[in-house]
Amino acid sequence: MAWDPSQYEKFRREREAPFLDLVALGAWRNGMRVLDLGCGTGELTARLLDLSPGAEVTGVDSSESMLARARALARPGLRFEQGRIETWEPRSPLDLVFSHAALHWVDDHPALFARLAGFLARGGQLLVQMPSNHGHVSPRLVQELAQEPPWGERLAGFVRRSPVLTVDAYAELLHRAGLELPVVIATVYGHVLADAGAVLEWQKGTLLVAYTERLSEEDGRAFLAALLPRFERAMPDRPYYYAFRRTLIAARKPS
Ligand SMILES: C[S@@+](CC[C@H](N)C(=O)[O-])C[C@H]1O[C@@H](n2cnc3c(N)ncnc32)[C@H](O)[C@@H]1O
Repeated sequence: MAWDPSQYEKFRREREAPFLDLVALGAWRNGMRVLDLGCGTGELTARLLDLSPGAEVTGVDSSESMLARARALARPGLRFEQGRIETWEPRSPLDLVFSHAALHWVDDHPALFARLAGFLARGGQLLVQMPSNHGHVSPRLVQELAQEPPWGERLAGFVRRSPVLTVDAYAELLHRAGLELPVVIATVYGHVLADAGAVLEWQKGTLLVAYTERLSEEDGRAFLAALLPRFERAMPDRPYYYAFRRTLIAARKPS
């Protein structure tokens, strides 16, 4: 099991608010050179072109299944490339490095943000949104199960730990990277879901991909089935209020 655009898009409406809050932190003008890292299905990437008519927008993602959806949206000024966030390099300086719900998949944020700051032209902006809900009970339950038999062995010891830092750590590292006017906000988006099963369904399209892609299809299904009763015990409310914490970052290279 890998990234599945249909599974991911089940919760598209819930992801709308952080996108709108993030773009509100940007300064938009026509004709910007834009990079969207971890662009997924490209739907939000296309909206960046709408915000900057005449822009050159490039969406980059490592997943062929997500890019297959994205490529259907390509038009003049909007293109998609396969690449890894860790290694992708722009051909020329950029006016905006954008990333929505993707950088939390990459480790070593001090090095990553310093690299991304280096992509910017004078006056260029960095706009990033990342889930930072690792304090929620659900990732802890996943980590616990992943370390128990037989999963510890089947996952070869893999346990996903969030690389996302504190808001003050980001402000400091953006300053060190030579960016000005850093705005770093931790905010909670509350989602009323039917029950704990819906939390699992949500995470099947995101966090749990890191586990299921390391397992056979049959083991992936068994792993998810073993999680469900744990989720139900820990999150018994119906409906369940899913308090989802995200970190929003905006900063600019001096002009
Ligand atoms: C949660 S989706 C976000 C997609 C889109 N930005 C959005 O907000 O709808 C995360 C995306 O990051 C991509 N991704 C994860 N790790 C990556 C990496 N190391 N390099 C490139 N893309 C990566 C995945 O393939 C997936 O499409």
